[in-house]
Amino acid sequence: MATVGLVSRPVSVLPKISRAACSPAVLSAVPATVQHRKLHHALIPKGKGGRSSSSGVAATVFGATGFLGRYVVNRLGRVGSQVVVPHRCDQYDVMYLRPMGDLGQIIFMEWDARNKDSIKRALEHSNVVINLVGREWETRNYHFEDVFVTIPQQIAKATREAGITKFIHMSHLNADIRSPSKYLRNKAVGETAVRDEFPDAIILKPSEMYGREDRFFNYYANMRWFGNAIPLLSLGKKTVKQPVHVVDVAKAIINAIKDPDANGKTYALVGPNRYLLHDLVEYIYAVAHRPFVPYPLPHNDVFNQFCPTKPKLCTVLICPQFHTTDMKYPGLPGLEDLGIVPSTVEQKAIEILRRHRRFRYLEAELDETKPAKTVSH
Ligand SMILES: NC(=O)c1ccc[n+]([C@@H]2O[C@H](COP(=O)([O-])OP(=O)(O)OC[C@H]3O[C@@H](n4cnc5c(N)ncnc54)[C@H](OP(=O)(O)O)[C@@H]3O)[C@@H](O)[C@H]2O)c1
Repeated sequence: MATVGLVSRPVSVLPKISRAACSPAVLSAVPATVQHRKLHHALIPKGKGGRSSSSGVAATVFGATGFLGRYVVNRLGRVGSQVVVPHRCDQYDVMYLRPMGDLGQIIFMEWDARNKDSIKRALEHSNVVINLVGREWETRNYHFEDVFVTIPQQIAKATREAGITKFIHMSHLNADIRSPSKYLRNKAVGETAVRDEFPDAIILKPSEMYGREDRFFNYYANMRWFGNAIPLLSLGKKTVKQPVHVVDVAKAIINAIKDPDANGKTYALVGPNRYLLHDLVEYIYAVAHRPFVPYPLPHNDVFNQFCPTKPKLCTVLICPQFHTTDMKYPGLPGLEDLGIVPSTVEQKAIEILRRHRRFRYLEAELDETKPAKTVSH
């Protein structure tokens, strides 16, 4: 065990001082003690790099059981990091994460997002904290405000109080307080709350992520089961998307941990090309060798009236965030600033969509599939 001096001191470890001893003269004479927090030997870098060495990173990944979480844990594990995985499900449901790191380096612990002590416990031996907690719909127990504002704020607070200097928070590219989507409005409030609580936080704003287990390409590809017509607002011709590959986002997180200049910055993580949603979904169906039958839904007015009254149905059927045009942030650093060359949809879509093909097209080459048209606006 190595001991590292930290400036922060939890109240419980402060020496008890009697009332009489609290006069300014006496207090100024009390030497300032610095808490010596015991940190695990995993924080001492050693080895050549790789799974069985130690990168010096001990990271707590909140939300590791989700889509992006498995890629982040995998990337952390393969460079020899210790990863704490707070989870609320049965521990056997997260066993797929265990082989991603060396023996004993992936540590599971139960947590309750409403219990501040459980948040503190989850990060007390780490030097990096990553917040990936999110949900695309509200439940009776957790509203968007809880998931995107209160929980990140509590995690940021606990991270600051523990004296940890690296905190990565996952927001959304289109997070905007004026968005018609409640999800995106709360994401925007969450970003501000995190920044206020932890000014040095690294905020990552990815666009819609795609990957094998995604809920974007798979969502549209699976729509063929529901009457073969894909509901798209204005046929998807008024929405521009710039999706990003999930592996690029996971790599961005790892590079942001390594980069000392990343602290306090906000990154916009997007893919290299912009597409009309219509063209993107058409391409998804072309790669899957399935007929593309778009079904037009009226844009904004009806959608906005419909959403507040039927949020669940709306979220499931239309996914408001899918119909929000991806913002451009020329002033914000992006994937390239973290040393990553973003992958194109044409390179990666087949990995996701092959399983949506009929048997006879399973091995069909991609050459015959026309790439999706890109746009510049
Ligand atoms: N997916 C995208 O395309 C996309 C795009 C932009 C931004 N983002 C953001 O990136 C982050 C990660 O996305 P993702 O797709 O990996 O999300 P995800 O698959 O939905 O996973 C979310 C994670 O958060 C946990 N979680 C949700 N509500 C919780 C609660 N009340 N208490 C404790 N844990 C809770 C889930 O735990 P359980 O497994 O126990 O439910 C899961 O581990 C999210 O903040 C998301 O909003 C995602």
